[in-house]
Amino acid sequence: MKFFLDTVKLDEIKKAKELGFLDGVTTNPSLISKGYFSSKNEIFNHYISICNILENGDISAEVIGNNYDDIIQEGEELSSLNHKIVVKVPMTKNGIRAIKFFSKKNISTNCTLVFSLGQAILAAKVGAKYVSPFVGRLDDISYNGLNLIKEIKNVYNNYGFQTKILAASIRNPLHILECSKIGIYAVTSPINIILSLFHHPMTEIGLDKFIKDYNKKIN
Ligand code: E4P
Repeated sequence: MKFFLDTVKLDEIKKAKELGFLDGVTTNPSLISKGYFSSKNEIFNHYISICNILENGDISAEVIGNNYDDIIQEGEELSSLNHKIVVKVPMTKNGIRAIKFFSKKNISTNCTLVFSLGQAILAAKVGAKYVSPFVGRLDDISYNGLNLIKEIKNVYNNYGFQTKILAASIRNPLHILECSKIGIYAVTSPINIILSLFHHPMTEIGLDKFIKDYNKKIN
């Protein structure tokens, strides 16, 4: 199971790499807006810095434009920055049409803002590399986000679709654990949720006892 970080923060990306669980990065316009960038150039340079940290894996960078020509222009610009960049395209008619175009040109895409099985099928049909169903935002409106993940996984299996499921809008460790049981390709999560997987009180109590026992007898 792959762990992507949903962040633009270089220190978090470096920390995940150091700890050994960094498989990729996703960003979105809201995360970018918190990064104190004042120009498109600065943002693009930041994407390149992220690419330089990543050993393997890729980073999804989202287009801002909504009409077809803007999505194509921006996507081509983004993908030309570095081979690790995946063009993140919102789930709209223009977005799906653009993903089809990018697929033909071997430009990798991540179809984002996916909230239904129908949308996930469309993303797979046009050859998106990733589909990003938003688990937490569905939970927020009283739909079970994890059920959608299960449905997408089943239907993708039925048809042998190659699009990988990248569960997004992860809000707690249980989201990650349930996604692992469903067997999806990856989650993209804030770092604190992944870090919470390290902890168990019995590990901490056990380690404390081991060291105390050892120090009682051995100098
Ligand atoms: C996914 O690609 C998005 O960037 C992200 O996971 C959305 O998460 P949020 O619903 O917590 O904003």
